[in-house]
Parts: sequence; structure tokens; C-alpha cells
Amino acid sequence: MNLPHQPVLYQEIIHALQPHDGGRYVDGTLGAGGHARGILEACAPDGQLLGLDVDPQALALARKTLAPYEQRIHLVQASYTTLSMQLARLGWESVDGIVLDLGASSMQFDTPERGFSFQQDAPLDMRFDPLAPQTAADLVNTYSERELADLIYEYGEERDSRKIARAIVKARPLHTTRELVAVIESVSPRRGDRIHPATRTFQALRIAVNEELASIETVLPQAVAGLRSGGRLAVISFHSLEDRIVKDLFREQSKDVVNPPYEQLYETERKAIIKEVNRKPIMPSEEETKNNPRARSAKLRIAEKL
Ligand SMILES: C[S@@+](CC[C@H](N)C(=O)[O-])C[C@H]1O[C@@H](n2cnc3c(N)ncnc32)[C@H](O)[C@@H]1O
Repeated sequence: MNLPHQPVLYQEIIHALQPHDGGRYVDGTLGAGGHARGILEACAPDGQLLGLDVDPQALALARKTLAPYEQRIHLVQASYTTLSMQLARLGWESVDGIVLDLGASSMQFDTPERGFSFQQDAPLDMRFDPLAPQTAADLVNTYSERELADLIYEYGEERDSRKIARAIVKARPLHTTRELVAVIESVSPRRGDRIHPATRTFQALRIAVNEELASIETVLPQAVAGLRSGGRLAVISFHSLEDRIVKDLFREQSKDVVNPPYEQLYETERKAIIKEVNRKPIMPSEEETKNNPRARSAKLRIAEKL
């Protein structure tokens, strides 16, 4: 597929959602529209798709990719955290399938001025939504040393978080990716063939700027609620923090809950709402990671509404 973002686990997503003619589907993270196109092809001639993305550049690109299906698509520049509202707007009570392909797209990493890449010099931005109030520069220049260290440790799982936070505070104000990379390299030098020392700090800032983990926690219950019985939710995550949220929610909602009497103040008996289609996450094949190194850390989890 000749797209600026190669859709990850493409066949697996189509297989997971099993789109059918007349079905209604949601792609909450449109990107370049690769997954959306596959879904629209598979649910032809009458299936429909609601596509969301907070990034207007992604939306413009997806609109082009999906032009042949114009009659069957509803594209909205909005966060997937507004899913319930978007479904209500269309008058869709329930849908047959939902895909969430989390994180950033190749277009975002490859557009230097967006500030996602530590390999290019650019303003420290990292917003998926260019109108969102807070940039990476805002965080880096206003958080306390302690807050920065916690953020880099928690969202970047970076062992050198304290050293890096101290160096940032000493060197600020910082305005560009190159300045930040230089600060990180000064206290956390390259070690052999390990990942670049700025990788984890950049990941942490991106997650914080876009409130990615909170967004996932917000959307998952809405997605489950929006599925018809037998409908499927497929989520691709790219690091353990995201995957843990998906895994925990799927586990929790796929269990019957019968609380002992003393806990009944909070919740009474509740039946499982979903079943996990695959207990272990699906990972890309060796061939896929060879052709698309960005697929390397992808994990796909699928749930089916009962
Ligand atoms: C990995 S890409 C998706 C690629 C897409 N599946 C494709 O085939 O091209 C993730 C996309 O999700 C978008 N995104 C991130 N957070 C979002 C949110 N809260 N709501 C909607 N879109 C979001 C990003 O802007 C990005 O375009």
C-alpha cells in the first residue's frame, strides 16, 4: 500500500473486525487512513465508517485516501475521547467494530516541525492537536525538577530520569528538540548499540503533552458501550504503559463480578460485558517488522461484546 504511514497489523485488524456489508465501523485514530480503507473495502458496498483524528493534517490526508468511499464515510476532527458523543451525533446506537491504533503516525514523526523526532531540529511541540493548549516546551520550561523527573520516569520508564530532570532545569529555557537532546546526552551518554538516550524522554513528553494514557482510559469504556452484541474492539498499542491499560480493562470487563456482601455498597453482581478474543496479544510477524521497523513493538488486543 503506497501510503505515508504503513498501517501496522493490517491483515490482523481486518480479520479481527470481520467487516461486512452494511456494517458500521469506527476508526478512532485515522492517521493516513490505511486501516480505514481496508475496513471500507471489506464492508462494501454499503458499510459505513466514522473516522476520527485530532490532527487536521492526518484528517486531510485520510480524506484523500478515502475519497473513493466518500458516500460511506463520516470524518471528524475530534478526539476519540468524544466517541459516545460522535456516535450519538450520527444517530448510531451501536456499531459493529472499532479500531484504535494508538500513538503517533509516521507522518507526525517524519514532519520535523512537529517536534516529535529527536533526530531533527525543531521547536519542542509534540502536540497531535496543534490547537491543544500545552506544548512540550511548556512542560520542559515550567515543571519543577521533581515533576519532570517523575514524568520522565513514569511515562518514559527512564532510569536516568533524575539526572535528566536536573540537567533540564539547569539548562532551561529550552526551545528546540536539538537543545533538549544535547542536555540529555550530556548526562546520559550513548551506550553501545542501545536505543538513543533521548528516546525515552521524548516518549514521556509526548505522552504527557497529549494526555495519551488518560485518553485511553477514557475511550475504552465508551468503545465497549458503543459496540453491538458480537461487535469487536481492536486496539494496537506500542508500549507497555498503553498495553497495560487495555489488558486490565479487557480482563476486568470479561469477568463476572459477584461482590461479597460487605462490598456491595459499591457494586452488586455484574455479568461479564466482553470476552477476550485472544488471551495473548497479537504481534507483528518477523516479515512485517523487517519491512516496517515501526511495527516492532506493536501489540494487538481484541475484545468481543457479549
Ligand atoms: C498510529 S496513527 C494511526 C494510523 C492509522 N491507523 C493508519 O492506518 O494510517 C495514530 C493517529 O492517532 C491520532 N490520535 C492520537 N491521539 C488521538 C485522540 N485522542 N483522538 C483522535 N486521534 C488521536 C494521531 O494524531 C495519529 O494520526
